[in-house]
Amino acid sequence: MQHKSYHSSVFGFVIGILFTTWLLSNRGSQTPTVSTSSTTSTTSQAVKSTTLASVKFPIDNTNIARFYDEYYKYYELNKEWMKKSFLGVHFLQNPNDAITIAEILHDQNIDLVIETGSYRGAAALFFASIMYQYRYNASEKSIRPFKIVTMDINPEAQTYIDRYPLLARYITFIPHASVSEKAKSIVNRTFTELKPSNVFISLDGDHYAQAVYEELLYYQQYALNIGNYILVQDTRLSSKWHTLYCSASKYDGPCNGPHEGLNWFLKNEGQGRFAIDHGKEYLFSTHHKGWVKRTA
Ligand SMILES: C[S@@+](CC[C@H](N)C(=O)[O-])C[C@H]1O[C@@H](n2cnc3c(N)ncnc32)[C@H](O)[C@@H]1O
Repeated sequence: MQHKSYHSSVFGFVIGILFTTWLLSNRGSQTPTVSTSSTTSTTSQAVKSTTLASVKFPIDNTNIARFYDEYYKYYELNKEWMKKSFLGVHFLQNPNDAITIAEILHDQNIDLVIETGSYRGAAALFFASIMYQYRYNASEKSIRPFKIVTMDINPEAQTYIDRYPLLARYITFIPHASVSEKAKSIVNRTFTELKPSNVFISLDGDHYAQAVYEELLYYQQYALNIGNYILVQDTRLSSKWHTLYCSASKYDGPCNGPHEGLNWFLKNEGQGRFAIDHGKEYLFSTHHKGWVKRTA
């Protein structure tokens, strides 16, 4: 009898050891996504994570850089940027970046957006849709004031914006060039009347370096607070294979696109007051090094 219970104890002990060993060895392989899910904003941060999963499935940063390069090319050559719509209006925004913009609008309680380059006004309608939600005061059942001022040398946006009267009342469309006296005076008048608390600026008009630089020079004054953003859109156009923007170099880089205009601004008038925020390039951004934050 005693003999039998001795055997049972030894058997139980061995089973316990085996089970514990199995549990420990499986803990790492159960969570293969830990290293990527702990990624906050940039791919370089992902490799710093040293979990068992990242040892088993290391992230190759060279592959990610090549993916970006190839994907920019694909995005441009296949005209992927032309394939989206918002409320049925042709929308030239990358959906990933659009959500990041929506996040900034909400998180900073933005009450004025200045956009250069309206095209058909879909981005303005997108901004207005988001802003309408968080500017609604539920207890008073009223909308706290907000405005989008958008401009384009092409006048077609107004027709599309007018399809949505609920949103159109918050959008001022200016059918003039972004740094024309007319555009400047309407932006200034809106700013004076609205007295905004936080401003978001999206530069999406002429993408040549000189034009981007001139827009930055003028519109920087409206980035009211430290933390407010100026988004220099489509920095991807400053890619070595892009013949339109990279056939001749100018300013401060290999191309003549948005990135060079921004670089020039950051090295001169913007120095010490604005900086690139890589945190907003979440996973994939067509505005790589284009999310510019006021820092002082
Ligand atoms: C990339 S599209 C804008 C897309 C739009 N923001 C959207 O998300 O749907 C660029 C626009 O900039 C306009 N544009 C070009 N030069 C301009 C200038 N100097 N001032 C204002 N707009 C300009 C073009 O007519 C074109 O409609």
